[in-house]
Amino acid sequence: MEKQMTALQISHILGEEYPREWVESLIEVPKKASFGDVSFPCFALAKSMRKKPAIIAGEIATRLKHPVFDQVEVQGGYINIFFDRAFITEHTLNQVLEDPEAYGSHTFGEGKNVVFDMSSPNIAKPFSMGHLRSTVIGNALANLMEKCGYTPVKVNYIGDYGTQFGKLLAAYTRWGDPDVVEADPIKELTKLYVTFHEAAEKEPSLIEEGREWFKKLETQDPEALTLWNWFREASLNEFNTLYEMLGVDFDWTRGEAYYTDKMEPVIKLLDEKGLLETSEGADVVQLGDTMPPCLIRKSNGTTTYATRDLAAAIDRYQSYPFEKSLYVVGSEQSLHFQQMKLVLKKAGFEWADRLEHVSFGMILQDGKKMSTRKGKTILLEEALEEAVAQALLNMKEKNPNLTNPEETARQVGVGAVIFHDLKQDRRHDIEFSLEDMLTFEGNTGPYLQYTHARACSLLRKGSFSAETPQPAGDDPEAWPLVKAVRAFPEMTQTACSTNDPSKIARYLLDLARTFNHYYAKSKILGSPSQQERLTLVYAFTVVLKEGLRLLGMAAPEHM
Ligand code: ARG
Repeated sequence: MEKQMTALQISHILGEEYPREWVESLIEVPKKASFGDVSFPCFALAKSMRKKPAIIAGEIATRLKHPVFDQVEVQGGYINIFFDRAFITEHTLNQVLEDPEAYGSHTFGEGKNVVFDMSSPNIAKPFSMGHLRSTVIGNALANLMEKCGYTPVKVNYIGDYGTQFGKLLAAYTRWGDPDVVEADPIKELTKLYVTFHEAAEKEPSLIEEGREWFKKLETQDPEALTLWNWFREASLNEFNTLYEMLGVDFDWTRGEAYYTDKMEPVIKLLDEKGLLETSEGADVVQLGDTMPPCLIRKSNGTTTYATRDLAAAIDRYQSYPFEKSLYVVGSEQSLHFQQMKLVLKKAGFEWADRLEHVSFGMILQDGKKMSTRKGKTILLEEALEEAVAQALLNMKEKNPNLTNPEETARQVGVGAVIFHDLKQDRRHDIEFSLEDMLTFEGNTGPYLQYTHARACSLLRKGSFSAETPQPAGDDPEAWPLVKAVRAFPEMTQTACSTNDPSKIARYLLDLARTFNHYYAKSKILGSPSQQERLTLVYAFTVVLKEGLRLLGMAAPEHM
């Protein structure tokens, strides 16, 4: 907000050639407080104005006057601006107090849908770390978009279709035991799938058997359909346990199989537009020299992952005309999404440009990709349970008198896993380490939650009531914290417009550190300004809690 206002004043002085947006893009927030609250570098003006940056800075500075500017200094080619702290402090705290939950919200997304393709695990297979990333990143982005006014539509595009289900049906009818499957569906079905592949090496006719079962599935054979439905329901059941644990829900659970009978019209359309070509018996859409063709129908007549995604994209646009349609999927599928977008574009859908692949890196274990095959990995559910168990141990040690430690441990353990993911640039690979996630001291979820609980305890001890706040004071020690609280609305905006929850995560770490610093330095309880200081502490808890909520994390008041 100050950046904007400062930019407006400077742009007034410079004239129309230098619009506010341009000035604002140059304004910096200096790392060192002695360089001002904001700073405007004049180097970019030197050429067009034919003057030295320092001269320009001096000329602008003498004309820069506003009640909010306390001091304007020229240093080299920079104009360093210091704000009137009492004014800004009061203004900020009043904004938070007026409507705590709305602080940091925006309206620029109002009336616009954003579709999120997220989570999207495959039935009869373990929920992988990649699916976890998709779920956690997608959920945080949806929260952020909602905060900015958009209507998010969270879609779980379950992988419940394809030739592998023919193999699974073949395996089940040969070796499956209903009771064993019922007891632990995903584990048993995965096992059957592995058994199938091992047996097929010795008995190649099995492959044909698998194909036949898939054909049965496609032609809606009752036996095939009943089994498939059962596997699907049982898998979804297990996934739901995870979603509950993570606190994530969906607006739409519509998997690949839903599009079984919706692909034919798409293929027809591509044909009518003259886009389909036959290549070695298969139907493809050529995409030029730089990209391999998109496979639409294989030579044996079956459709593909791409065909279903095309049908799904069209269906989504019809159901929720979207401003953006985001696919939160690992970077290894990037070619697939580029192809899909281009096919839609060639087919004449002007909204194809609104599709975006929000990609992310892998989760590594000891520097290697976590593989879901051969039971080598820690399964996600076990990892979460382990995180919760360790959180419980940590907490019992720190605060043996805690009431309801189990629920808090769940919030902390799960929060630790979520935060570990979201604090890093999503495009990077990340190392999975429970130890790093759970420490109370580092850049972790538990650190943030613990800082929040500490601030809440301070408010309780000081009997602070949000009904009688005192948002006043020119308190030099409080200034960094005021500035941090004040930065929240800008953070939600940039995180949203760059699809980057890590901006919020890192901001919260900064905010919490600033608070802890303030708390260490300033006497709060028992000081003559106790009520003013607690008002700031309260504002801090509001922002931290809301920031954690956006990331999909709880903010317990006791820890
Ligand atoms: N089920 C797929 C997988 O596990 C992810 C689906 C991603 N979404 C999409 N629209 N293709 O790899």
